[in-house]
Amino acid sequence: MRTRLDTLVSAALQQGSAVPAFTCYDFTTALAVVAAAEETGRGAILLVSPSTAATPNGLRLIAALRGLADGAGVPVAVQLDHASDLRVIADAVAAGVDSVLVDGSSLDYEDNIALVRAARGSLDVLAADCAGTEVVIEAELGGLAGNEDRAFGSDAAGNAPAAGTAGLTDSAQVEDFVARTGAQLLAVAVGNVHGKYKGVPELRWDVLQDIAVRTRVPLVLHGASGIPAAELVKAAAMNVGKVNFNTELRTGVLETLEARTAAHRTDGENLQGLLADWDAAARTFAATALVTLAR
Ligand code: 13P
Repeated sequence: MRTRLDTLVSAALQQGSAVPAFTCYDFTTALAVVAAAEETGRGAILLVSPSTAATPNGLRLIAALRGLADGAGVPVAVQLDHASDLRVIADAVAAGVDSVLVDGSSLDYEDNIALVRAARGSLDVLAADCAGTEVVIEAELGGLAGNEDRAFGSDAAGNAPAAGTAGLTDSAQVEDFVARTGAQLLAVAVGNVHGKYKGVPELRWDVLQDIAVRTRVPLVLHGASGIPAAELVKAAAMNVGKVNFNTELRTGVLETLEARTAAHRTDGENLQGLLADWDAAARTFAATALVTLAR
C-alpha cells in the first residue's frame, strides 16, 4: 500500500527503527526491493534520481513505481531524491511521486530556505489544482561530498570523496531552518558521503545528537553505502528514521550481471535467467538493509 513518507518514517521511529530508501533506476530493482519489503514485513522507500525524473521514460518509470507501491503488501513511499529544479519536481509529482527531497544544500543558507519555500508553494498550488494530497517535503541542511549517481565523482584522480568536505550540518541553524522551510524530514551531513568512502567512515554522532535534540522532525541519513551495520543500527536512537542506499545496491547488481551474463548467453541468450539473478542480488541487499534497520 502506498503510504505517505512522513507517516511511514514516524511509525518506524516510534518502534525504535528506521526505514531504508533505495534508489531505483529501473523496474527490476524496484520489484526486488518491494519483494524484500514484503518478505521481511517492513515498509520501504523507492527513490528516484532527478537525472531519471528529467527524462520522459523516467516519468513513466515513476508512474510504474507508484502502481507498484499501490499494490504492495507493506507500506511503500515513492520519493524524488535530491531535486533542485522546480520543473523536474512538478513533473515528477504529476507522474506520481508523493514526496520530494528539495535539495538546496549547495546554495547558501537563505537561498536553500528560499528554494524549499518556493517548492512548497508550487506543490501546494499543484495539489489544489488537481485535488491531490499534500506532497511531503524533505530538505537538506549541510552538504554531502560525492555524486548521487556515480560511486566516484569528486576528483580527477578517481579518488573517493572524503567525508565532510562539503560541510557538516550546523546544528545551531536547525530550528530556524525547519521552522522557515516547513520541512517534514531533514537530511543531515554528519560525515556521510555519497558513493564510496575513502577509508573507514567516521560519522559524527556528537553532531547528530546535537541536531536530534533541536528538532522533532525525523532526520535522514544519506550515503549509507559503506557504513557498517553496527553503526547504522544506532541511527534510530538519534531520530534518524530514513536511511538512503544507492551505491552498494548498484555494486551488487553490477557484480552479479558481470558474473552471470556469459552463462546466460550460453544458455540460449536467457534474458529471463539474467533478470532473475538481478532480482536476487537486489532483493538480498534490500532484505539485509531492511532487517538491519529494524533492529
Ligand atoms: P550512497 O550511494 O552512498 O548509498 O547514497 C545514497 C543516497 O544517499 C541517495 O540519496
